[in-house]
Amino acid sequence: MRSLVTGGAGFIGAHVTQECLRLGHEVVVLDDLSGGFRDQVPEGALFVEGSITDHALLARLFVEHKFDYVYHLAAYAAEGLSHFIRRFNYTNNLIGSVNLINESVRHEVKCFVFTSSIAVYGAGQVPMDEAMVPQPEDPYGVSKYAVELDLRAAHEMFGLDYVVFRPHNVYGENQNIGDKYRNVIGIFMNQIMQGQPLTIFGDGEQTRAFSYIGDVAPHIARSVHEPRARNQVFNIGADIPYSVNELARVVGRAFGVEPEIRYLPPRIEVVNAYSSHEKAAELLGARAGTSLEEGIARMAAWARAVGARKGQPFGEIEVRRNMPPSWRELESEPGLADVAPAPTPAPAPVSAPAPASAAASVLAAP
Ligand SMILES: NC(=O)c1ccc[n+]([C@@H]2O[C@H](COP(=O)([O-])OP(=O)(O)OC[C@H]3O[C@@H](n4cnc5c(N)ncnc54)[C@H](O)[C@@H]3O)[C@@H](O)[C@H]2O)c1
Repeated sequence: MRSLVTGGAGFIGAHVTQECLRLGHEVVVLDDLSGGFRDQVPEGALFVEGSITDHALLARLFVEHKFDYVYHLAAYAAEGLSHFIRRFNYTNNLIGSVNLINESVRHEVKCFVFTSSIAVYGAGQVPMDEAMVPQPEDPYGVSKYAVELDLRAAHEMFGLDYVVFRPHNVYGENQNIGDKYRNVIGIFMNQIMQGQPLTIFGDGEQTRAFSYIGDVAPHIARSVHEPRARNQVFNIGADIPYSVNELARVVGRAFGVEPEIRYLPPRIEVVNAYSSHEKAAELLGARAGTSLEEGIARMAAWARAVGARKGQPFGEIEVRRNMPPSWRELESEPGLADVAPAPTPAPAPVSAPAPASAAASVLAAP
């Protein structure tokens, strides 16, 4: 079984790679390291540095490795920022995906697994259910839904089988805690480790069901071996929503501190987002068994071991109009978090057991 994992140097992709290796797959990881880390690629996988936007590279890889399965996780998943980097978003997240679908059709890949997002649902549809008609409201969600539709068309036209996952607010070991625009839990941990207040957009009463990686990655990896999963869409993740204020307290407790909170002006975002997981439970046996306290404690232990991480502001903002002020400040702030990046160990076997001005990103998806 030969598998390609795109984004396999990133958070979820590295864990999926690990799970695929455990299942006996030979794995090639393709990642451009824009958001991932070379030393996070699990041992045993072949690493190729390159972009999914490079279709000539993809053509060579597919000829050379004759993949049975493609797990497509590479993306820049900063949902809130996607309004301000529309061209980049569609080039990376949509055109890059289409390049992979083309090669998968040409080479008769047996199954194409795609990590979409609950961002496809848009606002006002809770609990989000796979039977609902998606109504994405931002470029990130639009690109994810466009890829879902393209996969459906490729299945109907060429017989390419697929499995689509719509995860939400996944956290855990090996997450990029230095990204200033996404991953609220990582941002909180990075802030605590630098003695900074936790920053929250709005009143902190927005809710999300934060999902531990160990309850997500194994099901993504195994899905190609479950015939009933073929050509299906699955929500995947935790069931219990928490407010961002509650989350801040749980993260504080994991570090033994009473966190100081700095509330920033609210921004336009979905207020409450949680989804139904009945379908994933029935067809994949996926049940989110890890409590928030337990998952956060595991991630905090890892974060303490690797230390705070320096992140960069996004390089090429295309539209600045209506950008949250705290994100604008990032671009001009001198000497952002001046912390040395720590080496990153490969993902722990989870299935077995920002700077001050960067506000926590709590958008529905990433
Ligand atoms: N983390 C979440 O809560 C969440 C929720 C919903 C969906 N997702 C989806 O899951 C996938 C993985 O997300 P993650 O949280 O692990 O993010 P991540 O940033 O840790 O991983 C993404 C990886 O893709 C790589 N990448 C980005 N653009 C690339 C390109 N053009 N070519 C090759 N590699 C590229 C990055 O370097 C990174 O290693 C993404 O598709 C994301 O949209 C994540």
